[in-house]
Amino acid sequence: MIDPDDPRPEGATPFEVLGGEPAVLALVQRFYDLMDLEPAYRGIRALHPSHLEGSRDKLFWFLCGWLGGPQHYVERFGHPRLRARHLPFTIGIAERDQWMACMKQAMTELHIDTAFAERLAASMFNTADWMRNRGG
Ligand code: HEM
Repeated sequence: MIDPDDPRPEGATPFEVLGGEPAVLALVQRFYDLMDLEPAYRGIRALHPSHLEGSRDKLFWFLCGWLGGPQHYVERFGHPRLRARHLPFTIGIAERDQWMACMKQAMTELHIDTAFAERLAASMFNTADWMRNRGG
């Protein structure tokens, strides 16, 4: 889902540019820590289970593959069917924007290269927007 025409050092995948599994894991941990801590993300936090361990694992496994790294998620669960898996949760513009703001804050706090973080966020926005299942 990342633009394959984006310039990358010697054809490295976004997964490699980011720093491999340790970097993806750090991003996911910060993302869910912030969702737990920040009142601004209370709306989407409420959609999640009380314990976030399962959510952390799944997003980590998914993002590794989505970024061009190991397909941990697909190996465990098959095709992600992300939109279908989000249908039980009411997701509109507010939820999409909270998810993106939370992810961008995590990227900023981890000092991910600004230009790379912007490309990543643009790609994630497309996925987040596609997850909307109600207007507004
Ligand atoms: C648009 C706003 C979004 C909201 C409100 C949202 C919310 C949720 C919720 C409540 C769950 C269930 C958590 C659990 O079962 O532990 C979930 C699962 C998941 N989300 Fe999202 N999500 C959003 C966007 C995204 C995006 C953009 C991605 C990927 C880039 C993503 C990837 C996933 C994955 C991989 C799972 C696990 C699916 C499964 O195997 O059950 N989500 N999401």
